Amino acid sequence: MSPKVILLPGDGIGPEIMDPTIEVLNAVTKLELEERPFGGESIDIYGTPLTDETLESCRSAGAVLLAAVGGPRWDSTEPCKPRPEQGLLDLREGLGLFANLRPVRAIPALHDASPLKQDRIEDTDLLVVRELTGGIYFGKKTRTSNSASDYCEYTSPEIERVAQVAFRAARHKVTSVDKANVLETSRLWRDEVTNLARNYKGIFLEHLLVDNAAAQLVAAPSKFDVILTENMMGDILSDVAAMITGSLGVIPSASLGEKDGPGLYEPVHGSAPGIAGTGTANPLAMFLSGALMLRHGFAREEEALAIESAVDQALDHGLRTRDLGGSATTAEATKAVLKYL
Ligand code: IPM
Ligand code: MG
Repeated sequence: MSPKVILLPGDGIGPEIMDPTIEVLNAVTKLELEERPFGGESIDIYGTPLTDETLESCRSAGAVLLAAVGGPRWDSTEPCKPRPEQGLLDLREGLGLFANLRPVRAIPALHDASPLKQDRIEDTDLLVVRELTGGIYFGKKTRTSNSASDYCEYTSPEIERVAQVAFRAARHKVTSVDKANVLETSRLWRDEVTNLARNYKGIFLEHLLVDNAAAQLVAAPSKFDVILTENMMGDILSDVAAMITGSLGVIPSASLGEKDGPGLYEPVHGSAPGIAGTGTANPLAMFLSGALMLRHGFAREEEALAIESAVDQALDHGLRTRDLGGSATTAEATKAVLKYL
């Protein structure tokens, strides 16, 4: 039996980039694919962004591939309205996906697309390891007519397990990012990471405050190897890091939990409602998320590399979607990548 993948195309450009990703995956391997409504689409049908059935089928699958969720149609500041993004948080929590890996590599062909100077971004090859199921995203929330609160908590085991992922992935350095000059959770974070580092003698550990880390990411991104940080700081820093490549449209991510469970693979970018339906979305981050799924979910390194190399070659041969300053459509980008597979 071939391994089963649950596909969650979601909202906005989601379905437009999921369809070509299926073509790309089918070109390199055989997988059993099952599509499910998720996010805003699921709210429209079932009144909730993630149904119990969808969560159950994700739990029993080999991997989950998600495109994007959210859009203005479901945006609301009313606390009781269902939100597409809540489906994503519930899915991460429901699958126990505590480690989010966001690799950022300066692609030589795209140096001109980056808002940063070429000599700054050259040789950048970093990995953001973001804690994904704790912190302020998952703490208790309150709201009255004139006040609101979000509670931030971390426990030692939560910090340790994600830090382990970072140290294992590091080649020479882990940069742990926090706000230890202000936050108690950050001081615990710093203590736990420092303790764990003793088990990884060959890896250098440095601590950076998050504001300084943001500045360093723009000033000298190539100095980073693995950036380890908590949930919200990781959300923000991974978008900053992504722009080093020139566009959020080329950055994939893998969210992983304990060894045996399925991982969730999704692009870092969102649902881009402004261009949904125009056929101009960049599908590359979605293709690369498929590659991460083959690598981490199914140990199919060769097929993963084939997709990554086809994307590189297409870019080398001039493929530029709109977000990269060109005019290639989603269909043209797909064709260009399939050509090198
Ligand atoms: C991301 C997104 C999500 C997050 C949103 C959609 C809830 O920004 O995956 O980075 O903040 O985690
Ligand atoms: Mg984000």
